[in-house]
Amino acid sequence: MRGFLKLAVRAVSCIPRRPFSGGRPPAPLGGRILTDPEDIFQHNMWDHVQWTEEETEKARQKAEENSKEKIPVEEQSKYDREAHKYWDRFYEMHQRKFFRNRTWLFTEFPELLPPDTTGLCLPEQEQEQEQEQEQGGGVDSCSESGNREKQQPCASSTLTSHMNTFPGQHAAFRILEVGCGAGNSVFPIISTIRGSKAFLYCCDFSSQAIELIQEHPDYDPAVCHAFVRDICDTASPFPFPPESLDIILVVFVLSAIHPVRRAQDAVRALAGFLKQGGIVLFRDYGRYDLAQLRFKKGQCLSENFYKRQDGTCVYFFTKDEVHHLFSNAGLEELQNLEDRRLQVNRGKKVVMHRVWTQSKYRKPCLISD
Ligand SMILES: C[S@@+](CC[C@H](N)C(=O)[O-])C[C@H]1O[C@@H](n2cnc3c(N)ncnc32)[C@H](O)[C@@H]1O
Repeated sequence: MRGFLKLAVRAVSCIPRRPFSGGRPPAPLGGRILTDPEDIFQHNMWDHVQWTEEETEKARQKAEENSKEKIPVEEQSKYDREAHKYWDRFYEMHQRKFFRNRTWLFTEFPELLPPDTTGLCLPEQEQEQEQEQEQGGGVDSCSESGNREKQQPCASSTLTSHMNTFPGQHAAFRILEVGCGAGNSVFPIISTIRGSKAFLYCCDFSSQAIELIQEHPDYDPAVCHAFVRDICDTASPFPFPPESLDIILVVFVLSAIHPVRRAQDAVRALAGFLKQGGIVLFRDYGRYDLAQLRFKKGQCLSENFYKRQDGTCVYFFTKDEVHHLFSNAGLEELQNLEDRRLQVNRGKKVVMHRVWTQSKYRKPCLISD
């Protein structure tokens, strides 16, 4: 089975759910815990899976092996320089069909719910996904979405703007999604915030992706403003003033950008648009995810950074790297987790280790006298 990690069922061990504390959801990242290895083929996905030392070592060796041959340096810059063209081609080919709607969005990130939407019906979630996608996430029951962590806006966060008018100016709650692609988070958010005092901005450097969003029947400029923007081009303006955003959503985007050279500057610039008390919500690939281990030799750009066949790139983060990325931008940690799961193909009786990272970082409030 190409690319699949076959695992001995007995090698699977799990950690318990974290206890409920201080109004937080009892356990982020799902609660389907495998306690009896005999049950492994009863579900498509198991949460909070711990790796044995042997499994970690095997994964490390696989990554070392597939990173031995690097893409020649003179060829590498093209994947940076022309990244938007590769993503344009990706959306030309796949249109809206590649990624599924992010059904876990409001469960994992209840901060996305504007303050005036408590009690609203959220988009329906699938209780069990038949085949979790490569860039998918966890699936939890809808009921946990009410466990919204209390957002404490800073007392001093007033908007001072040099812009006369801007889209979403009168909104009380502003969300930006960067690297929004074809809108798999955008449309669930639009349907949730419609009728509230919230406004959504979304951008991507692929003009094809933004066209797909703007042409979607649910796109509504009264609630959402979609625009083309490369988040690495920190000199270009955004259509809203600094310190105007409550939430920035960054889902499977920073992995597409060179982790050292470019992602840090992009995160720093984005942090400037958060209000004090505003939050970045982040989810992306984790180190030694199946997607990393199944790369063949000759596709590696630099350590843990690879080029796919279609020219798009992908990095695999550790928790510490994520922490540095956001704390170097002056943000404070609310959550920084590794999401380790077992994805099960029940038909083929194959199990695969998936690893994602999930984090929440907040812009601190300035203390005024
Ligand atoms: C893996 S897709 C994820 C799309 C979307 N966030 C989702 O979860 O479905 C990565 C997206 O990031 C966009 N992207 C990559 N680098 C970017 C950059 N420097 N600026 C803006 N968008 C970027 C790509 O065009 C692509 O749409």
